[in-house]
Amino acid sequence: MIEETHVLDHPPANAAEDWTIPQDWAHFTQEEHRVWDTLFARQAKLLPGRASDAYLRGLDVLKLSKPGIPDFDELSERLMKLTGWQVVAVPGLVPDDVFFDHMANRRFVAGNFIRRPDQLDYLQEPDVFHDVFGHVPMLADPVFADYLAAYGRGGQRAQGLDALKYLGRLYWYTVEFGLIAEPEGLRIYGAGIVSSFAESRFALDDASPNRIAFDLNRVMRTDYRIDDFQQNYFVIPSFDELLRVTVETDFAPLYEELVGMSDIAVATLLPEDRVLTHGTQAYALGKR
Ligand code: PHE
Ligand code: FE
Repeated sequence: MIEETHVLDHPPANAAEDWTIPQDWAHFTQEEHRVWDTLFARQAKLLPGRASDAYLRGLDVLKLSKPGIPDFDELSERLMKLTGWQVVAVPGLVPDDVFFDHMANRRFVAGNFIRRPDQLDYLQEPDVFHDVFGHVPMLADPVFADYLAAYGRGGQRAQGLDALKYLGRLYWYTVEFGLIAEPEGLRIYGAGIVSSFAESRFALDDASPNRIAFDLNRVMRTDYRIDDFQQNYFVIPSFDELLRVTVETDFAPLYEELVGMSDIAVATLLPEDRVLTHGTQAYALGKR
């Protein structure tokens, strides 16, 4: 996930210039592998009929020769053949420029730690389960793989234009919390949802959140919350369409336009929104 602040501004002593570290698969304990296997089994059972077709097809890429946390070398070898992507280990969150450089070059950075057995349901920082189970299956899809690499280049450009706030929202509402309209109904593809037992159901079934047709401009104006379920989800018609609109649009004039516009608070609907589900917001209201 993209975070606003970073604790470190240079790589820690054990990391390379590009912030990567050896995954050192052998250092994970049996208990850590069991956490992965438990989470994997639980989500794999929940996701058919909920996750997008592309995600479910991509899940096969994670089924490696040994159980437990995937060995990144083996995973990268498979992914490389499919879409040219690799998975590299990093100690935790990395600076934006490092993140974008890896992404633009088809290297997906993944945290090299896993949550504790008492944190199965919720974790503040992205761990290897979120990063790999959530993100990697989508990287096996050629169209989405191209989208994420293009996003990395877009990130480098946005940094120069001081527009990360806007581009970060696009990431949030697609890569992390995106929904897609498939012939059989709404499906999830965002990594933040597919890696969460509770939000995998909430995002599709709960009456509380709004589900709004994706609009680039609208998404880049919309605030989000990082500490709880979303109050709005944006629905793309297809990955081809997401790739097309983001690649064909020159974001520079869009960013300039957005500076003059107000941010849209979560849960707010606009008259021009194409609303698929008008949320009750009962969940968010009940928490106040
Ligand atoms: N087209 C965008 C730009 O002009 C780059 C981009 C592509 C951003 C794909 C996100 C996804 O900056
Ligand atoms: Fe993420």
